[in-house]
Amino acid sequence: MTDQHMALGVLVHATGSHPASWLQSEAPRDASTNIDYYRKLATLAETGLMDLFFIADTPAARTEKLNVYTRYPLFMNCFEPITLLSALSGSTRHIGLGATASTSFYEPYNLARQFASLDHLSHGRAGWNVVTSANDYAARNFGLDKLPPHDRRYARAREFFDVVSKLWDTWEDDAFVGDKEQCKVFEPGKFHTTDHQGEFFTVYGGLNIKRAPQGRPVIIQAGSSEDGKSFAAETAEVVFSSDPTLEKSQRFYADLKGRMPAFGRAPEEMKILAGLSVVVGSSEAEAQDKYRELQSLIHPDVGRMRLGADLELDLTNFPLDEPIPEHLIPKTANLHQAYFNQIVSMIRDQKLTLRQLYSSYERGKVTLCGTPQQIVDHMEEWIDTRAADGFMLAFHVLPNDMTDFVAHVIPELQRRGRFRKEYSGTTLRENLGLARPANRHAQAAR
Ligand SMILES: Cc1cc2nc3c(=O)[nH]c(=O)nc-3n(C[C@H](O)[C@H](O)[C@H](O)COP(=O)(O)O)c2cc1C
Repeated sequence: MTDQHMALGVLVHATGSHPASWLQSEAPRDASTNIDYYRKLATLAETGLMDLFFIADTPAARTEKLNVYTRYPLFMNCFEPITLLSALSGSTRHIGLGATASTSFYEPYNLARQFASLDHLSHGRAGWNVVTSANDYAARNFGLDKLPPHDRRYARAREFFDVVSKLWDTWEDDAFVGDKEQCKVFEPGKFHTTDHQGEFFTVYGGLNIKRAPQGRPVIIQAGSSEDGKSFAAETAEVVFSSDPTLEKSQRFYADLKGRMPAFGRAPEEMKILAGLSVVVGSSEAEAQDKYRELQSLIHPDVGRMRLGADLELDLTNFPLDEPIPEHLIPKTANLHQAYFNQIVSMIRDQKLTLRQLYSSYERGKVTLCGTPQQIVDHMEEWIDTRAADGFMLAFHVLPNDMTDFVAHVIPELQRRGRFRKEYSGTTLRENLGLARPANRHAQAAR
């Protein structure tokens, strides 16, 4: 059973993705570690018939500028994602449950086992976001001073994925027979050990849990580097894209899908979900006012830190109501070239003060403020012009913005025949229209 409507996922941080979300959210004060609250969020997303409830992750609290992080709690207090999704698997029935886990900080055996378990617990709704991680706070929790170089991280990620996917094929689908008459639990010929000796991992053994309901969890990726795109073209089934304009997204979409045939894959075997932040109003002006008010809640310390990190300039003592002097801006960027260039052109072209700058800077994203009709027009255009197969919704404030979206945007999408009216499949794969992979050993025997 497949579902050909656009795919919708939701990226969930407890009170929302916006740095000031916790000040405006209707969530309880302890939202980030409140399982009852998360259950309500997941139920809300499921009421909206969404495909994927997704938890991002970096395995690290921040250890510097703590006075600033007291005003920006995002990274400091949160559930471990696979544990959280395991709990949510019991209170949801249809929605996919996706989590980030880093190939730089796990061992393949642990990860294969955890995600296979999550897929069983949820009856086939697990998804793994394969990331290589991009911050040194995490590296320092795992015996490193800083992250290994980008190409080494991807080399490890490829081998990691290879080992994990072999482990997921330890058991053929019908290996466990539970035959009491013959006193036989499983067919030994349908158990296959992994014997892997590589540059990063040595693994000899088998997974001690039967094959996952989806064969293996849905493989998600979000890298946009050359290494990232090539790895995704070979292995990913869902990709989160994050280009802010239609043209860039179309280019990314064509580029990524164009790389798939070289790996023997058809473009339909991957769903590209474009990042989308929306604020819904009964008029465009009302939605914009709502968003402006939220932006005005960003504490100056937080505004300075987030902007300064991307501009690679310590803005701690800069006056808020004056422009940043151009001669102090670094000549080139070391970290995020695109974000850096965006800020520099805002400084040059718009002559904004520091306060105005951090209040309008969106880190490569664009927030769509509008009526449900305007938002759906935008979504339709992106789907119809091959910029995306669906969207990854990053709501600024949770649950508030998701409540509006489910109440007003989902019905408009349904009215236009763009979104399902009920779940058609039981697994995440079925709802996304992705095939269930065959077990390699069973296939070889055939
Ligand atoms: C929607 C979305 C969610 C992401 N979630 C995570 C995450 O949870 N953890 C993480 O380390 N990186 C996350 N990323 C970052 C990417 O996975 C990737 O690591 C990053 O873009 C750097 O990869 P690249 O160098 O190949 O571009 C996310 C990106 C997007 C667009």
